[in-house]
Amino acid sequence: MNDQYILAIETSCDETAAAIIRNGTEIVSNIVASQIDSQKRFGGVVPEVASRHHVEQITIVIEEALEKANMQPSDLTAVAVTEGPGLVGALLIGINAAKAFAFAHGLPLIPVHHIAGHIYANALVEPMEFPLLALVVSGGHTELVLMKEHGSFEVIGETRDDAAGEAYDKVARVLNMPYPGGPHIDRLAQEAKEGIDFPRAWLEENSYDFSFSGLKSAVINYKHNMDQRGEEIDPQKVAKGFQDSVVEVLTTKTLRAAREFNVKQVIAAGGVSANKGLRTSLEQVFEKEQIPFIVPPLKLCTDNAAMIGAAASYMYVAGVRGDLAMNGLPGKEL
Ligand code: KG4
Ligand code: ZN
Repeated sequence: MNDQYILAIETSCDETAAAIIRNGTEIVSNIVASQIDSQKRFGGVVPEVASRHHVEQITIVIEEALEKANMQPSDLTAVAVTEGPGLVGALLIGINAAKAFAFAHGLPLIPVHHIAGHIYANALVEPMEFPLLALVVSGGHTELVLMKEHGSFEVIGETRDDAAGEAYDKVARVLNMPYPGGPHIDRLAQEAKEGIDFPRAWLEENSYDFSFSGLKSAVINYKHNMDQRGEEIDPQKVAKGFQDSVVEVLTTKTLRAAREFNVKQVIAAGGVSANKGLRTSLEQVFEKEQIPFIVPPLKLCTDNAAMIGAAASYMYVAGVRGDLAMNGLPGKEL
């Protein structure tokens, strides 16, 4: 059998990325052009700024991905691209580049869901074993996803308000830290000896849903009260208190779901799975539970195209194809 080589493109938010993946498991090249430095000025992602960056970068990252892999378009099996969810203007840059590339070189086109991509980042680490439970925690999503086979995604719980990453970024803003705030809070929390006691949102007893807006408000209120009293807050204590609350709820609900659905593997995915506190907590709990736990290396936790290529590999085999009428789907369901 010939090797399968997929060129994957990702532009759903603020990273312009292209990668080449061999047989769904091996990264041949993985290029990410980040806009974080430009977006920092605005304290978040400005959609119009994101689109402009993607336009400038997209051809360069695709060429670099081919160059690093030492490959020609004729060596490829297919082109994959993130179809949604994401910023529509940003998605369209990647989709149009993928369409043009596929059309020019006579290659099949594969539309990929961004969250499926985050989950499949783990297939680049170890083979997936089903049933599998994925904790997806990113800037836009917080979901517990049950997978019974490749390509099947059942969302058993999700956030009712802010995504975990969104809460991190908003709390970081309150603490005057730059965007994206997640890594800064993570670092402060690691350095702290003790944390403020912030609330945990467990919701109904059997619910796998999450809520982070109450916690975010608790942090904002705490800062506000301290300001009014003319007292300085200790950013380390606040960061640790906030992180402990997020990590405890995520870990506890993931463990309960893993038991209930008797899964063979638990994985973490998305930008917040780069969080040290969360990784350590999940590793410890699942080691004790004796359920294999996988989390991608940091570079594959945040947005990248390698994960899109890994997901596309299985979709290609399953016969999933896009066409030139493909559109950006900003609110696409998993
Ligand atoms: O998956 P991702 O790169 O983009 C989306 O699809 O949203 O996730 C970005 C999010 C941001 O909110 C960022 O603050 C958060 O991931 N993040 C972290 C860490 N690294 C990135 N949050 C907590 N701890 C980290 N170490
Ligand atoms: Zn993402």
